[in-house]
Amino acid sequence: MNMIEKKPLVLENPSLAFKSDVPTDSVTWQSPSNIALVKYWGKKDIQIPCNPSVSFTLSTSTTETRLEFEPNTEGRVSIEFFLDKVRNEKFETKIVSFLDSIVPIFPFLKQLKFKAYSSNTFPHSAGIASSASGMSALALCLCSIEKKYFNNLTIENEFFEKASYIARLGSGSACRSLYGGVVSWGEIAGVNNTSNEYGTCLNDVVHPDFLKFKDSILIVDAAQKKVSSRVGHGLMNSNPFSMERFRQANTNIATLLKAMKENDMETFMSITESEALTLHAMMMTSMPYFLLMKPNTITLIEKIWEYRQETGNPVCFTLDAGPNIHLLYPESIENEVNKFIEAELTKYLHDSCRLRDCVGSGPKNI
Ligand code: DP6
Repeated sequence: MNMIEKKPLVLENPSLAFKSDVPTDSVTWQSPSNIALVKYWGKKDIQIPCNPSVSFTLSTSTTETRLEFEPNTEGRVSIEFFLDKVRNEKFETKIVSFLDSIVPIFPFLKQLKFKAYSSNTFPHSAGIASSASGMSALALCLCSIEKKYFNNLTIENEFFEKASYIARLGSGSACRSLYGGVVSWGEIAGVNNTSNEYGTCLNDVVHPDFLKFKDSILIVDAAQKKVSSRVGHGLMNSNPFSMERFRQANTNIATLLKAMKENDMETFMSITESEALTLHAMMMTSMPYFLLMKPNTITLIEKIWEYRQETGNPVCFTLDAGPNIHLLYPESIENEVNKFIEAELTKYLHDSCRLRDCVGSGPKNI
């Protein structure tokens, strides 16, 4: 067991300011979304999770961000944000306040005038949260500037650890998108280098079959969700079941990681599904309470259970903070599961919309 108390990282660094010759340049990263198996729901202090979480990094659901910059004389953070080439002032406001909050970490932020061009591979209407892929792509761009112009972060591990830390400050789950495969966030007893401040790649401690897992994202409803994750996390402060939930998440991580190491599919599926339903149970038991599942979410869950019962195929589901189903299964049964989806599930989907994804290899510098 890792009993050494970790000190919080101090990343404030006044030396990361240009002394002369402020550059004009651009950096581009493509970064994936991720889907949690053990869920982060509840936070404290500055983006510190109340319990550790574990996720699959996705492959095809990604955000690409090109960050252009030139000298800035305004003396304050300045960024224009474009989503699919169209200026998006709602995101822009959020990004300005995020960048303002990290000026002590990257003092050069006030010296540069930015334009960010972002696009997602998944359709905007698919109801998929883009904060994990978007925030991780932005964090990577900022770390690339530090690396290129201040000659820091030249060691790959340090580069991604810092990017993960920065992404976490933008959106908690984003810190898990910095690595491919299976990634945790939050201190896990007995697992080295796990931290509340950044994500950790766990590929070495899981069976390789999980690194090729498939995720069919079944879009039940594409409307924007009515309760943001930020508000949902906040409601855990007064949820009467929260303490037990945080304790359970720690136990579930230990059980899940053991199952993933031993390729114990039964346990993997039961913890994964229980986590999804517990997340939604927390929403239903918050005050004010809310419900993000839709009738077809339940119909699909029942169809998945029937299929599993009849065929014995190891297919399970998880849910994000929304009504859509992530159908998870090993690569070896891909063809059969595709037939099942076409025959039994597509009719319950919004515009028959289904995204074919799988566990991916992490961000790419473009
Ligand atoms: C249900 O990472 O979106 O997807 O830190 O406030 O940006 P913020 O929250 P966010 O919450 C994600 C919640 C979740 C579970 C998970 O991804 O672990």
